[in-house]
Amino acid sequence: KNIVILISGGGSNMAAIVRAAQSEQWPARIAAVISNRADAGGLPFAQANGIPTVVIPSQDFASRDAFDAALRAAIDEFLPDLIVLAGFMRILTAPFVAHYAGRMLNIHPSLLPRFSGLHTHRQALAAGHDRHGATVHIVTAELDHGPVLGQVEVAVLPGDTEAALAIRVLQQEHILYPRVIRDFIEHGAPAQH
Ligand code: GRF
Repeated sequence: KNIVILISGGGSNMAAIVRAAQSEQWPARIAAVISNRADAGGLPFAQANGIPTVVIPSQDFASRDAFDAALRAAIDEFLPDLIVLAGFMRILTAPFVAHYAGRMLNIHPSLLPRFSGLHTHRQALAAGHDRHGATVHIVTAELDHGPVLGQVEVAVLPGDTEAALAIRVLQQEHILYPRVIRDFIEHGAPAQH
């Protein structure tokens, strides 16, 4: 099975997935890491691990549709069975999502359906919740609202800053995402009850 991972920044989730794929009898290989930003910090890590990388610079395209078409062409060169969004900071068009229906995952740093959108840790602190976390879900056309495949919870501690909470969630994302991806490849999407 071929996995293509999309990143925009540091790629710490991508790195965790790459390490899991290297260290276990994974049912898949990381065929490529693709970024919409040439300065994505995760690119050197992928290259150092012998994984092909491609950059499709967002700013080179006049429209969202044109960017998505170029991104799709780049992805499909690798004959992917699964697309993994990992800190990928683009909203994807409905035709793009439809092309990968049922085989594109995302991780969102909140306990969806709570706190969709951006600045999730700030939202959790503002709401005064004492639990927060991350969600892996199948990507659908509705942002941050696809079928949930797995979640991890962390405590919100008194005096938590946004940065402290973000780090606590991110550390758990690195455990959750590789496990959910492996289960998804081995067992497919859980039956929707
Ligand atoms: C982090 O906020 C993470 O919670 C979210 O994307 C951001 C960057 O993640 N999934 P990464 O280090 O690029 O994987």
